[in-house]
Amino acid sequence: MRIVAAIGGSIIIKGKTYKKFQEYSEILKELSCEHEIFVVVGGGQPAREYIKIARDLGCGEAKCDDLGIEVTRLNAKLLIFALDDFAFPTIPHNFQQALEYSSSEKIVVMGGTEPAHSTDTVGAILAEYVNADMFINLTSVDGMYDKDPNKYPDANLIERITATEMLEFIKEKDVKAGTYEFFDMTAIQMIKRSSLETVIANGNNPENLIKIINKEKIGTRIIFK
Ligand code: UTP
Repeated sequence: MRIVAAIGGSIIIKGKTYKKFQEYSEILKELSCEHEIFVVVGGGQPAREYIKIARDLGCGEAKCDDLGIEVTRLNAKLLIFALDDFAFPTIPHNFQQALEYSSSEKIVVMGGTEPAHSTDTVGAILAEYVNADMFINLTSVDGMYDKDPNKYPDANLIERITATEMLEFIKEKDVKAGTYEFFDMTAIQMIKRSSLETVIANGNNPENLIKIINKEKIGTRIIFK
């Protein structure tokens, strides 16, 4: 299978240590023996810290986004270092480059592309661009809930949702640099228009990646009607 995995910065750079980079690199190396893998890495807390400084300096949203993109690429670089020879050494800055680099048969790792969206969207566009069989979004919660699980203990995990229902759900959210909510709108629009097979799951356990690929019931699966 051709797989695009977006790993949230909140997962991979959590605690600012090498650990998750190493854990993910082991899993990705294993998967790359059987599958063609593209990874999009998020910015996480360091991106938000940099963006805050830029905003305090009076920078506008697009510049703040630009800074966020630089941080996602730093995280992507760390994953490339962890993957060593399994990864293509250069970070693509656009989707055409990502496709070109994949002809090396190595794992292609990238961060953000341009302002006004999150790495969730980069993952969805990339999945569309390379005609992926599956788009996996690894985040800091178990999937999509009917309400914020950090605020409401009675929040329920949604195991299956249509892309249309998800769009309705996300509509009212805010889109400031560094503050994109659980999943951004453009990503869902991409998923919807291309009926991308998508699973959103908890990335704190990198083994979940294997479970999703093996079609185990985990996280939230986006369905199409
Ligand atoms: P992320 O998409 O990683 O956002 O990019 P995040 O909120 O930190 O999400 P997690 O925690 O990694 O899951 C960090 C910031 O970089 C900018 C946005 O400002 C985003 O909030 N960015 C990223 C872009 O503007 N364009 C991109 O393609 C990617």
